[in-house]
Amino acid sequence: MHRLSAEDLRAILDDAHARKAARKGWPKGRADADAPARDRVLAMIFEKNSTRTRFSFDAAIRQLGGSSIIANSTDMQLGRGEPVEDTAKVLSRMVDAVMIRANSHEDVERFARVSTVPVINGLTDRSHPCQILADIMTIEEAKGPIAGKTIAWVGDGNNVCHSFMHAAPRLGFHFNVACPAEYHPDLHDLAKGGNAVTLTADPNEAVLGADVVVTDTWVSMGDSDYEQRLHAFETYGVDEALMNKADPAAVFLHCLPAHRGEEVTDAVIDGPRSLVWDEAENRIHAQKAVLAWCFAG
Ligand code: CP
Ligand code: NVA
Repeated sequence: MHRLSAEDLRAILDDAHARKAARKGWPKGRADADAPARDRVLAMIFEKNSTRTRFSFDAAIRQLGGSSIIANSTDMQLGRGEPVEDTAKVLSRMVDAVMIRANSHEDVERFARVSTVPVINGLTDRSHPCQILADIMTIEEAKGPIAGKTIAWVGDGNNVCHSFMHAAPRLGFHFNVACPAEYHPDLHDLAKGGNAVTLTADPNEAVLGADVVVTDTWVSMGDSDYEQRLHAFETYGVDEALMNKADPAAVFLHCLPAHRGEEVTDAVIDGPRSLVWDEAENRIHAQKAVLAWCFAG
């Protein structure tokens, strides 16, 4: 699978900002002037539920002038045990790119190894890179270039947290993670963050002076230890008191879906510092830049 360089990431983010600005006020179904996905078909495979990823990728490919084919894996032979590699070889003959939301990260790697068309990770148990592009775009809209900013993550050391850790050293931001010891991020992913990432068990310490406070569900798709998690994360909810310990101009992000009263209070997610609806919309713009980058390369 292609690892995006710092230059590629920057170029994708710049294109996302430019594409959003260029179509301000347009109906959502109108294609961008350059239509870089004209004549292209994107396949989307979902092994897990999705609202934002499904609709934003579909809207994105249409706005780029292309079209999509969407399937839940349970409707495919993949769901009956057809090998990932055989599925990848067949789809490579039928479409121009594939987005996969998979239970196992390893399956996406296996798919990408034999696919002859670009494969985009639409979330796995390990990472959620498309989400992070939209998040960084949202932060830049509110606060300017991401380099030098401090982002505090409060909660589970999960897939979304990992993708922030992967991006931090490449885009030059600081990423402070606060999570209970038993739900810390994967150590391999933590190592990828190098000096850009700090880890603590104390949410107050992580948010101190932060420009952005981010959280996510305490129970991700595929997690089975619900009660245990609710107990472990009891003191990790983002409320106004915690937001007040961050920089006075700090903003709040959440990839959604949110569990109000658990990882975030209504007052924060519906409050003036919350950018969650811009963040959700930016999934379209960021993913358009990813797709355009794939088709250009
Ligand atoms: N944030 C996100 O990926 O949402 P969905 O699960 O609805 O796609
Ligand atoms: N961490 C969450 C993100 C959902 C978009 C999950 O994997 O369920």
